Order: sequence, then structure tokens, then C-alpha cells
Amino acid sequence: MNNKPSILIVEDDCRQNKLLTDFLLGQGYRVRSALDCGQAISLIGEEEPHLILSDVNLPDHSGLYILDHIQVARHLEIAFVAMTAFTSIDVAVEFMRKGADDYIAKPINLADLLARIGRALETKKVRSRLSQLESQVHERYSLNQIIGHSPTMQRIFRTIERVAPTNATVLITGRTGTGKEMVAKSIHIHSGRARGQFIDVDCGAMPEHLINSELFGYQKGAFTGATETRKGLFEVAGGGTIFLDEVHNLKSDLQTSLLRVLQERTFRRIGGRENIDIDVRIVAASNVDLAEAVRQGKFREDLYYRLNVISIHIPDLSARKEDIPHLITHFLKKGATRAEFNKSAFQKLMTYPWPGNVRELQNAIEYALVMGQPPFLKLEDLPIHICEHAESEVPRRTSDARSLESVERAHILRILEETGHDQGRTAEILGIDRRTLSRKLARYNEQALGS
Ligand SMILES: Nc1ncnc2c1ncn2[C@@H]1O[C@H](COP(=O)(O)OP(=O)(O)OP(=O)(O)O)[C@@H](O)[C@H]1O
Ligand SMILES: [Mg+2]
Repeated sequence: MNNKPSILIVEDDCRQNKLLTDFLLGQGYRVRSALDCGQAISLIGEEEPHLILSDVNLPDHSGLYILDHIQVARHLEIAFVAMTAFTSIDVAVEFMRKGADDYIAKPINLADLLARIGRALETKKVRSRLSQLESQVHERYSLNQIIGHSPTMQRIFRTIERVAPTNATVLITGRTGTGKEMVAKSIHIHSGRARGQFIDVDCGAMPEHLINSELFGYQKGAFTGATETRKGLFEVAGGGTIFLDEVHNLKSDLQTSLLRVLQERTFRRIGGRENIDIDVRIVAASNVDLAEAVRQGKFREDLYYRLNVISIHIPDLSARKEDIPHLITHFLKKGATRAEFNKSAFQKLMTYPWPGNVRELQNAIEYALVMGQPPFLKLEDLPIHICEHAESEVPRRTSDARSLESVERAHILRILEETGHDQGRTAEILGIDRRTLSRKLARYNEQALGS
């Protein structure tokens, strides 16, 4: 990995652009360059630079456009230095007011440029560390970032308050994007374990041969390559919470080891002799119906009962529409600018079925903030599949016996088709994790082969 700071130069004068590029390369920076705002924004999308050095007058827009973009798209770590003509102090002021870190007057004095770049990078680093700390504090003390006015969400909040202080194991179920991880974190934050770590274990993502050693750790010499004794996550999370995400993906031998740990509250490192007591709260989550998985023999029944001491089920967003307006306000407020949806856009947000649940709603709002012109957001600013979604596409008649799962599948496959089988783009549109998408697709494949 290359740790040198990276700079994106945005300058339409080719000679000037080349000169700056060569100079900064010579100083050891990594440099990419763009000739206009459009190019710059796509380069930022590919890889976030540490600093942008941008001209003011560019062929497609003003450099302010890039500054707006990095704020709306929350690339908050990027430092921004504007290059202004000597005479336009007003422009420089405008840039600083909009959040640029510094400006430099043209013609550019290279020594001055270097000093300013160095300083802007440094300030940005300190500031982002500060805001990280602030947000940790904020997360810890703000009672609820979870928005929910519907009776079901209110009931979930009461359950969280009630169970958080206990050590009870909690099983959270709900489809993708309904907020399972948020609920898990909230349980941790409101428990006596808030000072300990919250460790997120994605049982689906971890390679099978690693998960044992990841969870339980190993003793030096336990196997080839175990050159040091290493603690597993159960130890690292001591005093805190372990979040077993997508727990339905645990392979059967791991289900057995986990069951043993839960029963005995103690474990051994791989190759270790000593029993180590565990001091963790276990919260598990699953987006499939675990009881059904038990019936199908895919999940151990005894483990299911161990995990399902307290269960929290988060319903689909479409089943709690009264939460939608509050979520909209919440996500709009998170954007850097003030904004509001017009009536038809709002109407669409209320009626769209949200197969990707809250995550999809959040993504749609962020998309509109970028693509539209805040503060006035219109129907057309929403992602196209939402904007053009016709209500009749959702089966509404009760006689339509399609299961939610088959509707979800049809929707996913349609978007995949529309994006020309671009999985990254599909996951983005659906507002689901890429891994979740590929898992679903693999399952459809299996089903197709099996039938
Ligand atoms: N009630 C809510 N209020 C505010 N934000 C929410 C709410 N529910 C979900 N979100 C947001 O939606 C996104 C998805 O939430 P989260 O990761 O908790 O879902 P999940 O159920 O774990 O999804 P997956 O099954 O795909 O992992 C996050 O960005 C989260 O901040
Ligand atoms: Mg999750």
C-alpha cells in the first residue's frame, strides 16, 4: 500500500496542469489530474484523494461545484485548496466560506504552494480525528439515532431499554436494511458494557477455515503458521458485546462450538489447555427465518433456543409507513444542505415498496441530494427505478399469493437486468450490501438448479 498523500489537480489549462502535476510528483505526492469538474468528480468516486487543488473557472462549472459535491457526498476527509486569480479576492472568500481549507493566488509560487498543501493536509487530519471523537461521543450519549414512531418501533425501543442492562442473549431478525445492526449497537450502548468493545462478526463473510481461529484465537504452535499466541474475538470483546451478524450462515461445526461456548460460558484457544471464561454479551442477527432454518435442518435447534432468549423482529419498512416521513426528515438533515421534497416526490417515497428497506430509502435520499438541486427536490431527482415505479407492479390484491421473497427476487433480477448485470450498481440501487446481493444471487442459482 502506498501511504503517500494523494492530490487531485483540477485545471483546464493543459500546460499549467502538467506543470503542477510534474512538480507535485517530484515532491513525492501521488497525483491525478482532471481538466473539468465532471472528470474530477468521477476520479473522486474512484478513489478519494487526500487533497484537491482546484482552479476556479473550469469549462463545465465553477470549482465550487466540486466543493459542493464533496460536502454533499460526505467526502469530509478531503482537504480543498482553490487556485484563484490574483484579482479575485471575493471569489477566494466565497470558497473559504463554503468550506475550502485554503486558497492560493495565481501566478503560483511553488514554495508557497507546497507550504499550503502541507498545512491543509495537516489541519484536515487533526480535524477529522476530532470529528471522529466527537461522533463517538455523540453516538454514545445521544439516546436514539434510531428513528421510529410506529407502534412496532416504539415497542422495540422499550424492549431495548429493558434488555440492554441485562446480560441476556438477543436475537434480532428482519430483512436486509431494516436496522438490525443499529438495534444491536443500541443494545450495547445502553448496557453496562458500553465502555467495552462492540465486535461485529459477519458469519457469512468470514472464510470457514478462519472463523474458528478468529473467534477463539490460538496458542503459539497450534498449527503451522501460528507463530504467536493470538486472542480470538471472544477474548477481545471481553467486557463488551459480540454481534454475530448473519448467524444463519454459520457452518454446522461452528454452530456446535458456539453452542458449547454459550452453555459453558468458557472456551479454549485452538491448541490451548487453559479454559478461558467469557465475559461477553451475545447479540445475533439474521435476515432469514431461523425457526424455518431449524425445521429444514440447516440450523441447530438447541443453538436456536440459546440465541433466541429475547427476540426482536424488525418489520419491513413497507409495513410501518408512518416511519417514512420521519426517516425522510432525518436523512435530509444529515445532508450538508437544507432540502425538501415536493409533493409528488414525497408521495412516491410514501408508496414505493422499499424492498431494500431503510437502507434503500437512505440511499435514495442521498442520491436525490446529489443529483437534484437542493433545497427543492423533485420526483425526477430520485433514482430512476423509484421515480418510474408504477404502483401496479406490487401485488396488492390479497388473492395474489406470491410470497414477499418471490417479489423481492423478481425485483432484484429486474434491476440486475436493467443495469446490464452490473452487480455493484445493482446493490447500490437496491440499497443493499454487495455481499448480500451476491449471496442472494447464489441462492437463486441454487434454487434454479435444484428445481
Ligand atoms: N430506524 C432507523 N433510523 C435511522 N436509520 C436507520 C434505521 N434503520 C436503518 N437505518 C439505516 O439504514 C442502514 C441499514 O441499517 P443496518 O445496517 O442496521 O441494517 P441491517 O438490518 O443490519 O441490514 P443488513 O441485513 O443488510 O445487514 C444504516 O445506514 C442505518 O443507519
Ligand atoms: Mg447488518
